[in-house]
Amino acid sequence: MIAIGCDHAATELKEELKAYLLEKNIEVRDFGIAPGEKADYPAVAFALSSAVTQGECRLGLLLCGTGVGMSIAANKVKGIRAACCSEPYSAMLSRRHNDSNVLCLGARVVGPELAKMILDTWLSAEFEGGRHADRVAMINNAEC
Ligand code: RB5
Repeated sequence: MIAIGCDHAATELKEELKAYLLEKNIEVRDFGIAPGEKADYPAVAFALSSAVTQGECRLGLLLCGTGVGMSIAANKVKGIRAACCSEPYSAMLSRRHNDSNVLCLGARVVGPELAKMILDTWLSAEFEGGRHADRVAMINNAEC
């Protein structure tokens, strides 16, 4: 189950990526918002991030204008490692090395086709563990 959420800057991209995931038979939990609605990105980021840390959703996808606000907010939630990416290489390495559990994309930064490519790359990458696990543990240990 992949959680997906956005603010008003990214509703179109959210709808497109949600449909894209559903087409691939990937279950999606939609944290909103719908086109025409408005939301403060931290509220959406916190709701989705809690579902990820509580194990209700395996991974999360957060979309706003730049992806930056969503990533800053999501990373305030204990257990979240959110990566704001605008190309596939960083998205892949954020899974392999950083065990990212939330991907943030900017609807004003990436077009829908690049967003799909980044998302596919992120979803198909696996955490490598080993020395990277030690580093992720250092981050976890620094959490309040
Ligand atoms: C909303 O206009 C915009 O500030 C928001 O989507 C996001 O880009 C913040 O980081």
